[in-house]
Amino acid sequence: MRCIINIIVLLLLFSACHFAQEITLPSNPLDGRIVFEEKGCIYCHSVSGYGGTVGPDLGRNQYYGSFLQLASIIWNHIPEMDRKYREKKIPRPNFTQDEMLNLIGFLYYLRYLGEPGSVANGKKLLDSKGCLNCHNISGKGGIVGPDFNKMQQFASPLYIVQAMWNHGPAMQEEIKKYNLKYPTLIGQDIVDISAYIQQATQGNTEIRMSPGNPVKGKQVFQNKNCQKCHSVSGENRKLGPSLSEINLKMSVTEIAGIMWNHSPDMIEYMKKQSLKWPQFQGNEMADLIAYLYFLGFEDEPGNLIEGESVFIDKGCASCHEEGGKGIGPDLRKMKRFGNPIKLTQLMWNHAPQMEDLLLAQNEEWPQLTAKQMQNLYKYLKSVNQKK
Ligand code: HEC
Ligand code: HEC
Ligand code: HEC
Ligand code: HEC
Repeated sequence: MRCIINIIVLLLLFSACHFAQEITLPSNPLDGRIVFEEKGCIYCHSVSGYGGTVGPDLGRNQYYGSFLQLASIIWNHIPEMDRKYREKKIPRPNFTQDEMLNLIGFLYYLRYLGEPGSVANGKKLLDSKGCLNCHNISGKGGIVGPDFNKMQQFASPLYIVQAMWNHGPAMQEEIKKYNLKYPTLIGQDIVDISAYIQQATQGNTEIRMSPGNPVKGKQVFQNKNCQKCHSVSGENRKLGPSLSEINLKMSVTEIAGIMWNHSPDMIEYMKKQSLKWPQFQGNEMADLIAYLYFLGFEDEPGNLIEGESVFIDKGCASCHEEGGKGIGPDLRKMKRFGNPIKLTQLMWNHAPQMEDLLLAQNEEWPQLTAKQMQNLYKYLKSVNQKK
């Protein structure tokens, strides 16, 4: 009987843990750029062309992963980075918990910022997507929609997306009326179109939208009724898909494209539910998309049993022995692993001692895959809670 109760308690614990928010969202993910420079990552890495060339340019279109996936990349790097610090006679920096969060938030964000657009391709797209059936640019095109040359305010792709979205239902009526195909926008389409419109307009007002604040975006998500039809965790199915389950690990304008492509369906669903088509002002669209992008920041929960194996196989257990008999403290007793940021920070800060000890024993640096990192965290967090 007791055993059954224990199992039930355990199950409850696991299901409750599953969606607990352990990581606070950064309100300006670009803050981490400062950490990236100050902590010397910039000696070896560039971000979109600026910085060192020993390691790869991190600004290219690549998604590096969730929080602990990124933590594992940094961990595996430590010996090589430490060599660089010594070589350059730079003191090895420590991270505070906030700095660690900002650094990893910044790396997570790189994919989101995307690449600059191509004017030539944008010109082709306006034609091939049928925009010129209704809009005019440089004397070519229709007169149903506003003349792109007369736009005073086009600057960023995000601004265009927001304007398109706000006019979405009206545009759709016209599209139906003229029996045209609804233009879908994928990949770099929006960035290219906006690059072309931008250089073709006579307007010189620069309306720049900041790349977005995920914390504010969470608010926008609620205020604009998105949560009426979408959940953001795997649970409780609503009318629309759960947004944490679809792949949004792409640039801001690609995500905007996905929303745009679904807007005809969404317009219909919203009509049925008597919801007003949401209008976005100021930086709201950018904030909303930043929030959607950050839905993948937090890791899927790891596996406890496998985490224990990692702890043993990677040699942690041999220094961090039970009862504090080893060289290092007994990690099972420390009650310090309430969130993954803390674990990552402590592991970074303790790495030099560990490196010295391993060198003395002629042992290799234990590499950790993302999965192993997630499992290790799960294990340490769980044993900490039990004590
Ligand atoms: C001593 C030079 C050096 C320093 C300093 C350094 N890195 Fe690296 N980094 C590399 C090299 C080289 C690679 C290529 C992969 C490898 O062989 O480890 C890399 C790979 C990476 C990758 C994966 C890139 C990819 O496309 O596969 C990330 C992310 C990364 N580093 C982040 C960081 C961060 C964050 C810092 C600062 C805390 C940092 N690096 C500091 C040299 C460095
Ligand atoms: C069937 C006609 C039609 C097509 C095709 C069309 N639009 Fe529009 N568009 C309109 C109309 C009409 C409006 C103004 C709606 C309103 O007044 O609310 C508009 C508004 C806009 C706006 C907002 C302008 C402003 O005043 O802020 C943008 C941006 C825009 N369209 C971009 C595009 C792009 C890019 C394409 C192609 C991918 C496209 N449109 C295709 C008819 C169309
Ligand atoms: C009235 C219900 C409703 C509301 C309100 C709503 N959506 Fe949707 N949304 C849907 C439905 C239904 C789909 C799936 C449509 C389809 O299959 O094409 C969808 C699809 C999406 C998708 C694409 C998912 C995929 O599979 O690629 C995104 C992203 C999205 N919505 C975001 C939002 C955001 C952000 C808001 C708030 C501004 C919002 N939705 C408001 C019903 C809604
Ligand atoms: C060669 C011995 C050794 C190995 C192997 C080792 N550690 Fe450590 N670790 C230490 C020592 C010694 C300390 C305490 C010194 C210090 O504060 O830096 C420590 C401290 C720590 C701390 C900080 C504890 C605190 O509260 O400050 C963490 C977290 C940690 N280790 C995690 C790990 C993990 C995870 C592994 C396996 C991937 C590991 N260690 C492998 C020797 C080791």
